[in-house]
Amino acid sequence: MIRKIVLIGFMGAGKTTTGRKLAQALDCEFFDADERIEAAEGRRIADIFADDGEGAFRDMETAFLKEFLQNGPDAFVLSAGGGMPLREENRVLLRRLGTVVYLKADKETIVKRLAEDKSRPLLQGGDLERRIAALMAEREQIYLSTAHKVMETDGRTPEELQENLSHMD
Ligand code: S3P
Repeated sequence: MIRKIVLIGFMGAGKTTTGRKLAQALDCEFFDADERIEAAEGRRIADIFADDGEGAFRDMETAFLKEFLQNGPDAFVLSAGGGMPLREENRVLLRRLGTVVYLKADKETIVKRLAEDKSRPLLQGGDLERRIAALMAEREQIYLSTAHKVMETDGRTPEELQENLSHMD
């Protein structure tokens, strides 16, 4: 059974919800990169972006991955931030960490899920659907090239996804 799983994918794809359930099913520790960065910084991501800019946040993501690769446990599920695979360096780190699974969701699913979201700085202001479409177009190839496996999530519950993922070899 795979004991080191990294979930990547767009904001709202279900990385955190599914990851938590998967870790429970596999009886291993769950890590959410955004939560860890917020805890280490003592600030919300929206505030990190507002105070220091996106570049500073991306540096924090790289630092988190390096540290996790050094000191992370032998078995875990890690939910990556949606933008983590954007840097080449991070892609290498993510793949070194474990089996990288891309949780893939349609634009319509993401738009529905994030319609009321205020926590994600990249989606604030302007036309949400357009913003999501543009970012997804930029990122699709990056997610695909980072992942060892791709899992379609549309129309599937986190429980169903967890069930599939926990039997992955
Ligand atoms: C981001 C995704 C967010 C968070 C930040 C930037 C992105 O994480 O790291 O708002 O660039 O896609 P989630 O994918 O967990 O929402």
